[in-house]
Order: sequence, then structure tokens, then C-alpha cells
Amino acid sequence: MAGKQGQGGGVAARAADPAWDYAPAPESRDIVTIAAEYGLFTDGEFGPAADGRQFPTINPATEEPLARVALAGQPDVDRAVAAARAAYQRVWGPMPGAERAKYLYRIARILQERAREFAVLESLDNGKPIKESRDVDVPLAAAHFFYHAGWADKLEYAGLGSAPRPLGVAGQVIPWNFPLLMAAWKLAPALAAGNTCVLKPAETTPLTALLLAEVCQQAGLPPGVVNVLTGAGPAGAALVSHPGVDKIAFTGSTEVGKEISRAMAGTGKRLTLELGGKAANVVFDDAPVDQAVEGIVNGIFFNQGHVCCAGSRLLVQESVADTVVDRLKDRLGTLRLGDPLDKNTDIGAINSREQLDKISELTAAGEAEGAERWSPPCRLPEKGYWFAPTVFTGVSQSYRIAREEIFGPVLSVLTFRTPEEAVAKANNTPYGLSAGVWTEKGSRILWMAQRLRAGVVWANTYNRFDPASPFGGYRESGFGREGGRHGLAAYLDA
Ligand code: NAI
Ligand code: MG
Repeated sequence: MAGKQGQGGGVAARAADPAWDYAPAPESRDIVTIAAEYGLFTDGEFGPAADGRQFPTINPATEEPLARVALAGQPDVDRAVAAARAAYQRVWGPMPGAERAKYLYRIARILQERAREFAVLESLDNGKPIKESRDVDVPLAAAHFFYHAGWADKLEYAGLGSAPRPLGVAGQVIPWNFPLLMAAWKLAPALAAGNTCVLKPAETTPLTALLLAEVCQQAGLPPGVVNVLTGAGPAGAALVSHPGVDKIAFTGSTEVGKEISRAMAGTGKRLTLELGGKAANVVFDDAPVDQAVEGIVNGIFFNQGHVCCAGSRLLVQESVADTVVDRLKDRLGTLRLGDPLDKNTDIGAINSREQLDKISELTAAGEAEGAERWSPPCRLPEKGYWFAPTVFTGVSQSYRIAREEIFGPVLSVLTFRTPEEAVAKANNTPYGLSAGVWTEKGSRILWMAQRLRAGVVWANTYNRFDPASPFGGYRESGFGREGGRHGLAAYLDA
């Protein structure tokens, strides 16, 4: 493994001095064994889909097929929901919280023990840099299980009523941008509260959810408590409309979120939706510029910008706009794009051809509408799906790149003069998931936080997550909260 140049080679975005470059630092993929085929995880066992159908999952950095995975259909959804119902009635529902907690602690500890395996598998299937899967996705997933294990025997003290009860069977549909972490966000609170789960991972990133299913087996979790159905949109839709499900939790596009809302209207099922965003990251003239630049980079280039709360609109005060944009461009010149398994890589692969097409279409629209496009000099690997970090200046609020979620490494820069104007521009979006504020003045942080219509407002930081802190949106970003006490409420009848 040593000395072997990884795919993409970790090309520094700036055409730097050719005499000086990082040596390749590839993480070994030997730590993970990928099977040729994977089944559905139902009632504690892996098995094929009823009709035997499968779909491939690929490595987006190389387009190489990783495995063939069972494609769930209606009979599989029926079977998984029945297994979850039986487990809820016979085992998990009646089990004392302190006993449930033991299983959650066990899952959390196994996640830590097998962290490297999970990180490599996540980077292979998703395309995200290993340093992100290793330092963010996997540790946070374990933290969610630890945190919720702590709640399992204390639910009556969560301020949600003196005897809160579980809802029953939860159907959970998740996206591809944080495959393992979203599985943890969904499963941990549901299980802590005494519900059983049927989880539907995204079609481009099924592998870590299946490894998590294996961890559930390893932890001795009773059969049927967690079921994992791999498949595409139709499997998600079948789960959502299944009469045997008591609650649906969805993270994904606003478009599908709206469809789900319509499908569930009048059914009496409980619903939480975590949808898209178009967050403003607001930089005032008194902000420490270098820190703000780091926050801007982290806000939009973390995870290739495949982040619902990404700071995709930079609102910078006019008097410092040139300085901030210049320093930002300097910093972007140092980002390294390439092999996701290289420990020095900052920007990995775009998750799918479809997502790459969407990013390309929207950035072309930005140019056509008159914004000025900039990327650092950057050699993209020939195979796989890649997009250079991109900054648009001269952006008007009416442009598509200022209004629509791009979900890629693309920043739109707008300017403002007064705090009032910053608030008006930040709130000029149908979304309301997150926002960032950069200023030295504490009073201004509070003034802004009161006025920004966003579920999360970060001050002098960005993209910071903790299982104890509720996360969720307003308006077209969805409703309901995940994490903290508020997140428990979504899985309890109080
Ligand atoms: P999507 O919303 O289609 O997919 C998310 C999940 O929903 C996947 O598991 C998918 O199989 C499932 N699904 C699809 N159609 C469904 C239906 N009718 N009923 C139930 N489940 C269904 O998102 P997609 O197509 O992967 O991405 C499109 C855009 O959505 C992205 O470009 C991005 O803008 C946004 N998005 C936002 C995310 C977020 O975290 N808020 C995550 C993923 C995508
Ligand atoms: Mg879709």
C-alpha cells in the first residue's frame, strides 16, 4: 500500500510549485471486506428480495462496482413491517428502558471498535474524504448511540410527560450524504424511546447501513427491532404508505418531502421531515477574517457541499467583501481534491452522476444569468464524478444559484451594507434550516439570531453537531427536530 499513488492522486487545487507536494497517504482498504452480494436485513437475518432483484452500488471516485444489493419490493416491505410490529409487541416495547439502554451502549461501543472499517467503507461507497468519515461521520454516529442510550431509562424525566410511551413501528428513509450518521440519527432515538424500526438507506450508499445491521446482530439485538431495506424511491414510498407503520421520519429532498406529506395526510401517522436548505453564512466587517474564511470553507466545501445545512450563500459586508473573497480564493487554492481514501484529501468525489449533472446544470445557469465564476486551477481525475470548488461573485438574489439548493461545492457570494439588509437577504428563501453569523460583537450575534428564520444559527463557527443539540428546519426545510430532548419528542406519545 505504501507509495502507491491513489486514484486522483490528491491533486492540490492550486498548480503549486511542482518541486513540492504531499506524498500520497492512502488509508488501506484491506480493513473492510466487501461481499459480492448483500441481502435485506429482516427479522434479524439477511436474505434476498422476494423477487430476487438486485442493484449495483459503485465507488463514485472510480465508477468501479462495489457490490450487488437486494432491491426491496412491496412483499419485502410487508415482511419487514410485520417483523418490526412483532418485535415491538413481544420484546422491545415491554422491555424496561434500562435493558434497552444496554443494547444501545453495546452498538455504540462496537461502532467505536469497528470505526476504521466503517470509515473506509463509507468513503468507498459515498466518495467523501476519509478524514471526514473517520473524524466526523463515524464518531458522531457512535456518539448518537451513547447519548440516546443514556435517555432510554430516563424518558419520564425528559419533560415530555410523566409516562411517555413509544409510538410503535417507525419507518425511516434516509439520504446518501451522511449514510451511517443519518442511520444513527434515526435509529438511536427511536430505539431509546422503545420503538422498532424499518430503515431504508439511499440507493447510492447502502453499504454502511448494512454493516450497521451486522453490528445489530453482533450486539444481540432481538430480531425485528431493526430492519434494513435497501432499494430505491419505490421502496421508500411503499414504506411511507404502509398501514402498519406508526411514524415516518424522512431526510432528503424537499420535492420528495412534499410527496410524503401528501401521501400521509389524514392517516394519523406521525411525521418528521428534514429537507433541503439554502443557508446564509453572514460575515460582518468586524469578524476575524481568517477564522471567517475557515468557517466559509467548512460551511460549503465540507462533504463536497452535500450538506442540507451547507452555508451555500455567503453574505459579506460590502466594506470587507474584497478582502474576504481574496483570502477565500487563496485558501481554496490549498484544498486538495482527489482520492477519498487519501488522508490528505479535502474534497472527495461527487456522490453520483445524477448529482454531478444537477451541479453542472445549476452552475451553468449561474454563468448564463451573469454571475462571475471562479475555481482554483484544478486537475480533475479522469474516472469518477468530480467537481472543482467553485465561487460565484456578482450574484443577485434572483439568480437560481442564490435560490436553489445546489448540494455541491459551489458558493454564491452576495454583499450587504447594514445588519437589517443582511437579515432581509438571509431570510429571502423558502428554506429555513441553518445560518451562520461572524462578528466580534456578542450583542449582534443575539440580535441576528432572533431575526434569522433558521432552525440552527451558528455564531463564529459552522457545521458543528452534537447529539444533545436539536437540529431541524422551518418552512420548506421541513419540521420536527433530531437530537436532544426535542428529538425524543418525535418518537414518543406524551
Ligand atoms: P431524494 O429525496 O430523492 O432521496 C432521499 C431518500 O428518499 C432516498 O433514500 C430515496 O430512495 C428516497 N425516496 C425517493 N423517492 C421517494 C418517495 N417517493 N417516497 C419515499 N422515499 C423516496 O433525494 P435525491 O434524489 O437523492 O437528491 C435530490 C436532491 O435532494 C439533491 O440534489 C439535494 O438538493 C436534495 N437532498 C437533500 C438532502 C438533505 O439532507 N436535506 C439529502 C439528499 C438530497
Ligand atoms: Mg431522487
